[in-house]
Amino acid sequence: MQLSFAALSISGQGALVVGATAGRALMPSAAAADKASGGAITRALSHSKFTGKTGQVLDLVAPAGMAASRILLAGLGKADEFKRSGAETLAANVVGRLLTSGEKQIVFAIDGVKGGKLKPAELAAHLAMGAKLRSYSFNTYRTKNLEDFEPTLKSIVVGTGDVAGAKRAWTPRQAVIEGVFMARNLVNEPPNVLSPAEFARRAKELSKFGVKVDVLGEADMKKLGMGALLGVGQGSERESQLVVMRWNGSRKKDEAPVAFVGKGVCFDSGGLSLKPGAAMMGMKGDMGGAAAVTGTMRALALRKAKVNAVGVIGLVENMPDGKAQRPDDVVTSMSGQTIEVLNTDAEGRLVLADALTYTQRKFKPKFVIDLATLTGAIMIALGLENAGLFSNNDQLSERITEAGKEVGETVWRLPLAGAYDKMIKSKIADMKNITGTTNAGSIAAAQFLQRFVEDKTPWAHLDIAGVAWQDGEQKPLSPGWGTGWGVRILNRLVMLNYEK
Ligand code: BES
Ligand code: MN
Ligand code: ZN
Repeated sequence: MQLSFAALSISGQGALVVGATAGRALMPSAAAADKASGGAITRALSHSKFTGKTGQVLDLVAPAGMAASRILLAGLGKADEFKRSGAETLAANVVGRLLTSGEKQIVFAIDGVKGGKLKPAELAAHLAMGAKLRSYSFNTYRTKNLEDFEPTLKSIVVGTGDVAGAKRAWTPRQAVIEGVFMARNLVNEPPNVLSPAEFARRAKELSKFGVKVDVLGEADMKKLGMGALLGVGQGSERESQLVVMRWNGSRKKDEAPVAFVGKGVCFDSGGLSLKPGAAMMGMKGDMGGAAAVTGTMRALALRKAKVNAVGVIGLVENMPDGKAQRPDDVVTSMSGQTIEVLNTDAEGRLVLADALTYTQRKFKPKFVIDLATLTGAIMIALGLENAGLFSNNDQLSERITEAGKEVGETVWRLPLAGAYDKMIKSKIADMKNITGTTNAGSIAAAQFLQRFVEDKTPWAHLDIAGVAWQDGEQKPLSPGWGTGWGVRILNRLVMLNYEK
């Protein structure tokens, strides 16, 4: 789908989108469209409950004489409260209505809001962002009735008073979109296709954007002593992989990198502690953390971010077979610490343990953030609205929280404390991988990860089990299943704090 910026105009073809703020106050373009249509908007309003609230859309067929096929009047809410997220959601909702409708073009003619928080260029860039994010579709495996699913929409024109400024603001955002789409694609791929090796192959494709990508196989990991990660993959026919991605964009070549670590369980059957059927569905998405890290590396490279960044993803398949790890096994992690594996379904923390040790020892990063679809319990705590944030560092936490608010990928911090750490005491090893109660399951998992944080490295863990995919209600900005959650927040975090 093509996206372009042009001078504000109501004379384009396709669906013309104009705005009204709360109290049905038509914005200048809307008033012009009303006039050009011989008062069609005013007439439609008189038969409508439309008030101009955010989210409302009044949809009318454009009368003869106008180039547009239809006019959509979109509510912006109170003018002084309209901001980025409002612009993104508005555009996304409009695209959602029209994506497969037969309409080929959408022309946005939303004027800058007087006294509003957004400059014209920003408003345009965020309309474009919302439109693009919503235009995603994943039809790789459909062979029938494609007309029901394939977007008919080919072009989006965003009208703005500052075309040059909008284009400038758009370039880096286009990179972020590509990162998000890559993450979504990875999460949506079925697990028979997306094995650890296939995931690694797709990560390798980032080398064409200047990312250095190294792939470690099982023999390499064995040499490094990664018994925790390898134990998880040992019941699978497919080889586990550790992918290391490096983007060196900082002006200071040898500056310590920021580091992202992702859980990449390409399918989580639970292993011998097998999940019941209903709980196993969707476990192709258990690599959502790794997908977010890979998508972020793509975004950083595409927009040539002035930062040194590493992304490390542990790719495994958690399967039960004769070679599978048993509940009661004790494994030795790369850190040297031993782990009693009492439940093979608490596998994410085992994968992350070795990936975290490797990342810290190899790169001495400024900070490390891991992302993982780690616990079902995080959804009990936070529902599907926030990812869980755990950290040993207040500044890093605040920065992550702030970045999340700006892009609409919000996080909520939960505690870590010695009292919780006691929950993972093992009778025979340094720690165990479950607690024996269902209390504070997400915190216990985070305490486990913290055991692998070295020398007080600033560290944060994002439990994204509730946000990496969506089964029920769709979020306006992410159609379909995999959301690509994580790319936007990490990119924003870097942009706001770590680029020089
Ligand atoms: N991948 C799951 C967590 C998960 C569950 C993600 C549901 C998304 C939706 C993880 O590996 C897991 O199985 N965790 C167990 C931990 C338990 C055995 C301590 C869980 O949450 O039940
Ligand atoms: Mn599991
Ligand atoms: Zn898992």
